[in-house]
Amino acid sequence: MPTPFPLDPLQAVTHADPYSYYAALARDRPLYRDARLGLWVASDPGTILSIMRHPAARVRPLAEPAPKGIANGPAGLLFGRFLRMTDGPRQACLKALFSEFLARQAPLSPSPDWSALAAGTGSASAIDRYPYAAPAFAQACSIGLPGAVAADCARDIGAFLAALPPAAAAASISAGHAAAERLQARLGAHLHDLAAGPAWRELRARGERAGLDPALLAANLAGLLFQSCEAGAGLLGNALVRAGRLGLAGELTRAQARELIDATLRHDPPIHNTRRFLAGPIDLRGQRIEAGATVLLVLAAAATAQPEAHWPFGALDHACPGRDAARHHAAAALRHLLQTGVDSIALAARHRYRHLPNARIPQFDFAEEPTP
Ligand code: HEM
Repeated sequence: MPTPFPLDPLQAVTHADPYSYYAALARDRPLYRDARLGLWVASDPGTILSIMRHPAARVRPLAEPAPKGIANGPAGLLFGRFLRMTDGPRQACLKALFSEFLARQAPLSPSPDWSALAAGTGSASAIDRYPYAAPAFAQACSIGLPGAVAADCARDIGAFLAALPPAAAAASISAGHAAAERLQARLGAHLHDLAAGPAWRELRARGERAGLDPALLAANLAGLLFQSCEAGAGLLGNALVRAGRLGLAGELTRAQARELIDATLRHDPPIHNTRRFLAGPIDLRGQRIEAGATVLLVLAAAATAQPEAHWPFGALDHACPGRDAARHHAAAALRHLLQTGVDSIALAARHRYRHLPNARIPQFDFAEEPTP
């Protein structure tokens, strides 16, 4: 049974209806230290932007460029190469390169052939897997990978993601390392394929001119798939719940699907938080945040104050370059899912949220917890 009001911003991520809590948080407590969570919490747009702009605020802890569990192996190497996980000139250079690559490549790729995604959609557990697989698969197709390769990449992204949590089991970690090696190799091979399309050739040439290691480029191609996975799962899952609540099942037009995705982003977004790790102290709003602190940036709270500002996709230097792709792919995947006969109304009536710190992702296959 969810509490009537979330007690803190991490509880809010999995709460049935956290949005009035978020509005109050942004209005009444724009910056505070949550002693129980051991985090600083920033929640109004101006405060979040000030932190994002501050040179001491980093996307990773200085001493931990990759999560500890995977640090010593291929998964850690891949993770540490992602532009999302670095700051400074290398991030800026890669960001420009990959934003341009996405813009060049997207119109050249055919729509995904959903039949290549071997995810049965009948059972609740298959429906739980689908929102994770579909966005990475669609993103892989949209960067121009053939369907079968895209499906393999989507599976490997799933295995890589499963290796990241601090509590990941040893078997998941070794599967994540193996998946990272395959991703790095597959995208590297495609990057060096002389028959690759013009956007790939341009990426390769621009990377060479900038003196970038080709392995860094290949890793960041995998990074595009990685970034689409969890956030895309939340967007598709929350849109499915929304469709069910509205009684929408069966065929949707493209326009209806687009509208549903945009309404989901506005009213029930997939990413609620991101974090910054302080390499030095920050003085803000009359308070000092010490070096070494972690600041939780509550994007979903900022969105209640500025609903039209694309907060679910972040802001400033690390703002998401995949916004349009994410909306487009989620709408296509939602149409495909509903066409297969998935009962959105039943799913909306019985779901809970996965226990994740930043992403709001519904789960449909779960056993009821026994009542004490
Ligand atoms: C529903 C889908 C998505 C959501 C809600 C989302 C959200 C976000 C957010 C909030 C950030 C900023 C994180 C921060 O500043 O700490 C981000 C960064 C990023 N996203 Fe997305 N994203 C989505 C899909 C995608 C897709 C499809 C792609 C690939 C085309 C992508 C690529 C990236 C990349 C590369 C970054 C890092 C940007 C940088 O560090 O400069 N995302 N995303």
